Amino acid sequence: MKTLTAAGITRDAIARISKSKNRRLKQIVRALTNHLHDFAREVKLTPEEWWAGIQFLTVVGHMTDEKRQEFILLSDTLGLSAIVDLMANRNHQSNATDSSLLGPFFREGAPLFPVDGDISHGAPGDKLIVAGLVLNTDGEPIADALIDTWQSSADGIYDLQQADSDEMNFRGRLRTGADGRFRFRSVKPSSYPVPSDGPVGKMLRALARHPYRPAHVHFRIAAPGYRTLTTALYISGDRYLDSDVVFGAKKSLVVNYRRSRTNGAASAIEFDFVLNSRESRKKRKRG
Ligand SMILES: [Fe+2]
Repeated sequence: MKTLTAAGITRDAIARISKSKNRRLKQIVRALTNHLHDFAREVKLTPEEWWAGIQFLTVVGHMTDEKRQEFILLSDTLGLSAIVDLMANRNHQSNATDSSLLGPFFREGAPLFPVDGDISHGAPGDKLIVAGLVLNTDGEPIADALIDTWQSSADGIYDLQQADSDEMNFRGRLRTGADGRFRFRSVKPSSYPVPSDGPVGKMLRALARHPYRPAHVHFRIAAPGYRTLTTALYISGDRYLDSDVVFGAKKSLVVNYRRSRTNGAASAIEFDFVLNSRESRKKRKRG
């Protein structure tokens, strides 16, 4: 029988997956095993620290349900989600809109709104009009694109965080017209702390990190023949732009409030989103 050594266990653990036919799974598990074992050796992980890690992940799991995604929050605050997002979208044609994180507050099936619909349902806050175009990379309008949008209230709270969270608020779906245009009404979003009453909040406090995201409005835009764009627009001047707790804010997605052309009492965000066609990625890989 072999003598167990730390290096030997890593070699053995990797050798044991050699019969798997799933090459990608093998690649991922091999790298994960290597890094995980190296990590334990590097920090000389003690049994107590290992147990604390197991307990931490257990609480993250217990905290997670269909309204609270503590695992996404953990991934986001560790910067993992932002790295995955960057890698998935780095092949974009230069003029396509950058992506940004989906985050933990997206909900399927938001109510549909007509042009100029108010996704805040008249909630208190500074009036905001969000308008623009959805275009392809040749600058042509995309008709009938489906836009999902969601944001915090003026107080920085998402509907999912409210006691009566079955009601959908500050979120909606709308479609672009034949000219690719969209427009909806809302209130200005606020910077907000990510949910901090769980294990991830405890982790942030232990690491002396603030829990804030800069103010933003989320978008997920889908149209047949195009790659679905998940992104967000961040408000210029926000104090947390450079220290977004989830590493989501990107320079190309920062917008200024303007005075609305249609309603003098409201501010406006105007932004044209550019979607990549589904084929563009394959073409670039061949080329
Ligand atoms: Fe958000």
